[in-house]
Amino acid sequence: QTIFLKDYTPSDYLISKIHLTFDLDDTNTQVISKMNVSANYDFKSLKRDLVLNGEELTLNKIFVDGVELGADQYELIEDGLVIKEVKEEFILEIHNTINPLANKALDGLYKSGSIFCTQNEPEGFRRITYFIDRPDIMAVYTTKVIADKAKYPVLLSNGNPIDSGDLEGGKHFVEWLDPFVKPSYLYALVAGDLGLVQDEFTTMSGRKIDLRIYVDKGNESKCDHAMESLKNSMRWDEEVYGREYDLDIYMIVAVDAFNMGAMENKGLNIFNSAYVLADPKTATDSNFFGVEGVIGHEYFHNWTGNRITCRDWFQLTLKEGLTVFRDQEFSSDMNSRVVNRIANIKTLKSRQFVEDAGPTAHPIKPSSYIEINNFYTMTIYEKGSEVIRMIHTLLGADGFRKGTDKYFELFDGQAVTTEDFIHAMSVANDNYDFTQFKNWYHQAGTPMLDIKTSYNEAAKEYSITVTQSCKPTPGQDEKKPYHMPFGLGLVSKDGADFPLKLKEVFTAQPQIEENILHLTQESETFTFTGIDHEPVPSFNRGFSAPVNLKSDRPLSDFVFLMANDNDEYNRYESAQALAIELMSCLVKDAANGVPLKLDAPFIKAYGELIKDESLDNSFKALILDIPSEGILHQAQDVVDFENTFKVRKFVKETLAKTYEQELSAIYDSLNVDKEYSLSPEAMGERELKNLVLGLLLSTGNSKYDDLAYEQFVKATNMTDEFAALTMIIHSDSKYADEVIEKFFIKWKHETLVMQKWLTAQASARGEKTLGRVKELLSNEVYDKSVPNLVRSLIGTFTANYTEFHNTSGVGYEFITNQIIDIDKLNPQMASRLAGSFKDYKRLPSDLKALVKTSLERILAEKDISRNVYEIVSKTHADS
Ligand code: ARG
Ligand code: ZN
Repeated sequence: QTIFLKDYTPSDYLISKIHLTFDLDDTNTQVISKMNVSANYDFKSLKRDLVLNGEELTLNKIFVDGVELGADQYELIEDGLVIKEVKEEFILEIHNTINPLANKALDGLYKSGSIFCTQNEPEGFRRITYFIDRPDIMAVYTTKVIADKAKYPVLLSNGNPIDSGDLEGGKHFVEWLDPFVKPSYLYALVAGDLGLVQDEFTTMSGRKIDLRIYVDKGNESKCDHAMESLKNSMRWDEEVYGREYDLDIYMIVAVDAFNMGAMENKGLNIFNSAYVLADPKTATDSNFFGVEGVIGHEYFHNWTGNRITCRDWFQLTLKEGLTVFRDQEFSSDMNSRVVNRIANIKTLKSRQFVEDAGPTAHPIKPSSYIEINNFYTMTIYEKGSEVIRMIHTLLGADGFRKGTDKYFELFDGQAVTTEDFIHAMSVANDNYDFTQFKNWYHQAGTPMLDIKTSYNEAAKEYSITVTQSCKPTPGQDEKKPYHMPFGLGLVSKDGADFPLKLKEVFTAQPQIEENILHLTQESETFTFTGIDHEPVPSFNRGFSAPVNLKSDRPLSDFVFLMANDNDEYNRYESAQALAIELMSCLVKDAANGVPLKLDAPFIKAYGELIKDESLDNSFKALILDIPSEGILHQAQDVVDFENTFKVRKFVKETLAKTYEQELSAIYDSLNVDKEYSLSPEAMGERELKNLVLGLLLSTGNSKYDDLAYEQFVKATNMTDEFAALTMIIHSDSKYADEVIEKFFIKWKHETLVMQKWLTAQASARGEKTLGRVKELLSNEVYDKSVPNLVRSLIGTFTANYTEFHNTSGVGYEFITNQIIDIDKLNPQMASRLAGSFKDYKRLPSDLKALVKTSLERILAEKDISRNVYEIVSKTHADS
């Protein structure tokens, strides 16, 4: 059943207040919900049946205004309950039972290890009790949690504690009140025997906030970075957006079994432990970044998501795109801006662009869905963030801030739409015209800009003609042109930028502001004057618009820009673009049996980068990294997994052999005993050192096997240890089995570290990998009901292109079985795995036939979830 945005209507009834009582038990939790219900409109015009959502619930009793209902006064329907002939205003009390232990979907109230916890976004609350479970029903929540005192000393819910005490039979209770109205998806409850780390934050108005992070006992020492990140987030939101925290207490709870990264429940965030726990011994530098980013993300939701929420789930990007933009900017302010921006764009290109080109392509504001859980996507989040970033670019930082101020002024405490957000941005900026810009919200697909350039020496004029297009996506054959900000630089011979002066201006809106061109037409030409020699153009600086580019410029321009662009991002981008171009040709050569040979100017330019001592180490590590297989696949009409892998290997090997001495010298200079630090400089050193080690290993010289082994054995931090582990396994070195064993013995009690161990093995190339992955399914550290473990082992294997897409079909068969198996427990997890068939349309015909069989086998299963059905049926239709 498909749900459409156009069918949205407000609810007939509202719930303004709810009091919940939980008597917690593993398999038989009692829930009592007492709600104030009232008509939302003129009562005379309303249907008198009140329809409530409810799934996996056992109904016990219903009371209306204190009187128990008889069997003829209500009806249980599929996924819900109808209360018949209701009054205009009444108190509805429902008693029901749930089974948290049996809840492996991790949606609603469930157990993660020995902790009771909840996940209610988007539609989990209906698995706790009967409710009008949609985000435009905003209520004040009070919760009384009752549980065994010895087993569950800590009892938490949203808001502030207002009462507590002991009860008979070894039980106790705590009662919580959240004074802010909120939708049901922000509701949370936690109970457990938890360790606590506490700190304090003083807000800009001088209020003291009690900060608490709850974790499994024994993990308290791993919370420093999360706590520091939380305080930094609170300060940053005050400074950059003028937003102050509103409750007196802010709690974060870490659990191991969680479908996503984390959840912004009001005052009580629940986190995947991977985004809270971090110490140098067990977490890599990239894990530390992850913690900071997600802590920030959930904190920023308090204003963009909680105080102002979504009217319905089609508006998801309203809170997610905006909040991702905010967390990205926070991370950029805390770390190196350009490095962070490159990392964000890498994610966008390697994952969102693929989604935009595949069977589940959708606009950031979709118009329909079968299962909303399938729409927590790279598109809604990451492309959504780029759309917000474009608004920021168009309005400037001050204009954007005026817009958010207006947004909070107009909509605090409400459930609103993306239109409302744009409205606030517009009215705060002299009614800025976003009419055409809104196409970004409704059209799927990655736009392509085709650029032609010409230089008129006599007139000293330089012109660029930009033609934009966007390929058809499912359900959208024709696309209208987008309004986008396009960063441009015209770089002169000596490396300086020419001032940009447009010859003519033909539109009402300014066409250029601070080196940003406004593109609005399907095709348009911009002519610049006063350009006294032919420049090298630098396009889409800072990745100002989330698009692909094609131009008539020679490859030598990329070489020039790699060394000379004044936009650091475009230095990186030019190196990538050049490598992609050359490697794409090599993939074709390999397919045609032409011997591989790497372009000499590229080798030379790469060497210049290696030798450039002015580059920041992190930046250098990024720019020296050869484009990934996934990125190379995007440039192929029919994906060639084998040859892409081969070419990438060849290029790395060629470069490494050419610059072996220089690389080796870099490794030695960075591989020195030093006190561990998390400073950007120290992280950059580790990053570059490990990138260089990877290159050295690809020379095939066995002395680097020894070097990697030595790093593995001597490492005192997880960044170096895990990098060495992975490289040793992937290079099939003689030490591979030994390090797998050693690492396991050392870390088997740390599930987050074991996730890395699984990842390193599942991503190894060669036919024995699948056998090893299957073996690991029965390893003591693996548990298919914990999503992190499934992602590490099974998810990683689906990104192991040569093995997953092995022409024998064994990879597909394995994943198909896993999807069917995991779907019985956790449909959200299964549907993510089902997404790995997204390249279906572009597979070579033999693989396509195999995938077809797999998809049809899944569709033929009885009782597959809506989640998996939606992904698989859309993939199957995309051929
Ligand atoms: N709102 C959460 C976040 O972005 C994501 C929760 C999504 N959960 C889910 N089961 N789909 O921080
Ligand atoms: Zn979010």
